[in-house]
Amino acid sequence: MDNRKEAPIGVFDSGVGGLTVVKEIMYQIPNEKVIYFGDTARVPYGNKTKETVTKYALQIVRFLKTQNVKAIVVACNTASAYALEEIEQEIDVPVIGVVKPGAKMAVESTKNGKIGVIGTRGTIGSETYTTYIRQLNPNVEVIGKECPLFVHLVEEGLWEDPVTEEIAKRYLMDLIDVGIDTLILGCTHYPMIRKTVQRIMGDGVRLVNPAYETARELKELLKGHDILNEQTPGLGTNMHRFFVSDAAERFQIFANSILKYGILSAKVIHVEEY
Ligand code: DGL
Repeated sequence: MDNRKEAPIGVFDSGVGGLTVVKEIMYQIPNEKVIYFGDTARVPYGNKTKETVTKYALQIVRFLKTQNVKAIVVACNTASAYALEEIEQEIDVPVIGVVKPGAKMAVESTKNGKIGVIGTRGTIGSETYTTYIRQLNPNVEVIGKECPLFVHLVEEGLWEDPVTEEIAKRYLMDLIDVGIDTLILGCTHYPMIRKTVQRIMGDGVRLVNPAYETARELKELLKGHDILNEQTPGLGTNMHRFFVSDAAERFQIFANSILKYGILSAKVIHVEEY
């Protein structure tokens, strides 16, 4: 028996958004154990500088290292856009972010060569999506739009609400005018409001959730390193573990509304000490 194969996968985000990626991992590679960290004390990352987000991300990775993870999923677009290289240097296990997989999916989806990206100020400002998309197809036009209020609306649970609808209309107007046919949900919080976004963009626009492709590529990555867990966990095994930097109870309630799997507990850790 290979212990590496049975080691957990470390997944992290600034808060609850990364749970949309965990959901896909659980669905596509159900044998894998997940150790999730949500930086609930320091959310949002989207308005912070590259230096700060990188510092936070490296602290989290050092914590995940202590949990003996076999791979890391950066389930935060902002941290993926800002700190992927630094994370890869920090830890000696395969690392995957959400931006590259999302860019690939969007390039495969577009027919008219006009892709929209919505995300935090950090993600859009970094132009990381544009860079990856252009590497895959230099002729594609990429239109980015910062939507900073979306993270708060999601964290407040206002997934289907007139306020969210109104703000989304304002943010998305420019993208409608340009005539994009594909829109990347470039923040792991956004799949929670995808119905609102789809309604406003109309059926002619395909929404891309990078979580799907990230989980698919993660499976390939694990296979490639020969660390995919082939053991089916015993029924009722408490496989996954959740950590946060603050407000564990609130996180738990939130997580249980996103994941089918019931989270029994989330533990607070002092991540700044790592
Ligand atoms: N969910 C994170 C992302 O994908 C960021 C939200 C935030 O902390 O601003 O970018």
